[in-house]
Amino acid sequence: MADSIVILTGAGASADSGLATFRGPGGLWEGRQVEDVATPEAWSLDPAQVWRFYQMRRAALSRVQPNAAHRALAAFELQLKRRCIPFVLVTQNVDDLHERAGSTPLHMHGELASLRCEACGARCRDLQGLDPNRFIPCPRCEYPRLRPDIVWFGEMPFHMSAIEDAMAGCTLFLAIGTSGAVYPAAGFLEIARAEGAVTIINSLEQPGNLTPEDRYVEGRAAEVLPELLEELLTEIGAE
Ligand code: OAD
Repeated sequence: MADSIVILTGAGASADSGLATFRGPGGLWEGRQVEDVATPEAWSLDPAQVWRFYQMRRAALSRVQPNAAHRALAAFELQLKRRCIPFVLVTQNVDDLHERAGSTPLHMHGELASLRCEACGARCRDLQGLDPNRFIPCPRCEYPRLRPDIVWFGEMPFHMSAIEDAMAGCTLFLAIGTSGAVYPAAGFLEIARAEGAVTIINSLEQPGNLTPEDRYVEGRAAEVLPELLEELLTEIGAE
């Protein structure tokens, strides 16, 4: 069977760049209720608090750089493209570190670099207006407050149809730095198994959705991925 590869990344892929993960000590949700900052209800009840939280995260992007995991993933994608091997990188991360390393990910949970108008639907890429206390009006319809272009709890993730297409017939599935706690992404591993794919997980702690069928690679993504992806390229004959 021809190879078809899907890689899913989570917060752990960006941890080695200095961006906090969501769960665990020092995680982004620590000290904050998810529903205070990451739901449509929070945005309508207290937009200033939600805006401050996302403005802080947007501002943090200029202080971080892609790490060796992002670079290895971009090199992997390039090698596969050269061999015309179908490959999709899906990320739950809302940072832009995959792009800055040279990858072309599907951002299923949205992007910090993008803002969206709830009135007219316009999207605008903006990482200039970073004042935590000032909303940005829509450049198209002048609605006074663009929202973060982020998928909040209770909203439908982006790119689901492209992701489902990629998962169908997937022969190799890797999940990097994700706790397997948030659906639908947490369900991709099971879908991949059902497709008969080889499944590989890299993280620091075993995720809840791991089974004995999966290969588990423990360790920091920036340390583990360069060698792991080289090994996979050799196995699939794409070097
Ligand atoms: P989590 O914070 O839930 O999990 C991070 C995972 O990364 C854990 O499994 C860690 O073991 C692992 N990890 C930490 N540092 C690592 C490193 N240096 N190398 C490799 N692995 C490492 O983050 P996600 O699973 O991405 O959604 O969270 C999923 C979603 O929950 C997020 O996209 C966000 C959040 O609610 C939305 O905002 C919609």
